[in-house]
Amino acid sequence: MKVSLPAQTILLPSPVLIIGTYGSDGMPNIMNAAWGGIASSKPPCISVSLREATLSYHNIKQTEAFTVNIPSEKYLKEADFVGIVSGRKYDKFKETRLTPEKSKLVNAPIVKEFPYSLECKLIRQVDLGLHTMFIGKIVGMVADSEVLNPNQLPDIEKVRPMLWGSFGSMAYYTIGDKLGDAFSVGNELQRS
Ligand SMILES: Cc1cc2nc3c(=O)[nH]c(=O)nc-3n(C[C@H](O)[C@H](O)[C@H](O)COP(=O)(O)O)c2cc1C
Repeated sequence: MKVSLPAQTILLPSPVLIIGTYGSDGMPNIMNAAWGGIASSKPPCISVSLREATLSYHNIKQTEAFTVNIPSEKYLKEADFVGIVSGRKYDKFKETRLTPEKSKLVNAPIVKEFPYSLECKLIRQVDLGLHTMFIGKIVGMVADSEVLNPNQLPDIEKVRPMLWGSFGSMAYYTIGDKLGDAFSVGNELQRS
């Protein structure tokens, strides 16, 4: 039986994205953001939606740049911590013992310990209400060589990203096993 429910912002699974920015004083900051995802292939773009209440929101407005850092599951506590406290009160890099490294391409820090990071230049912002969607053009990517596949692309089984179960569980999850090959396994349903 299907039931109708009130509108909810639940998309499963939700990503665990760690947004890196610099403050006007040059202070590096990171925050956890689930409201984000790839927005375009050409030009390559990603969107992240942040509340005005966050320091990161103001940092992006000022620097017009941000990084999207993908933590591996071993950084569970660090990823959650940077989503609980604000850079207004804490030096989150210091507290988590993570290392900020300036991106060579944009005015934003990457998290050295995380397997890979997208370097983004702000190209558009859309005020939607509580959240403003920042659309960044992905101008580069930095990755640990150990997480790359032979095509030099990040491999999900090597990166081991976390998933967030959104408001339905309020918990983080690990990735499961491979199910099948995309753009391929579906062909088995073709009748002719
Ligand atoms: C799992 C998780 C997902 C979150 N997603 C978002 C989000 O998409 N947008 C947002 O504005 N805040 C989100 N937050 C809350 C911010 O990370 C939090 O307010 C943080 O303290 C902001 O840091 P800042 O003030 O240093 O920028 C999320 C927190 C958690 C734990």
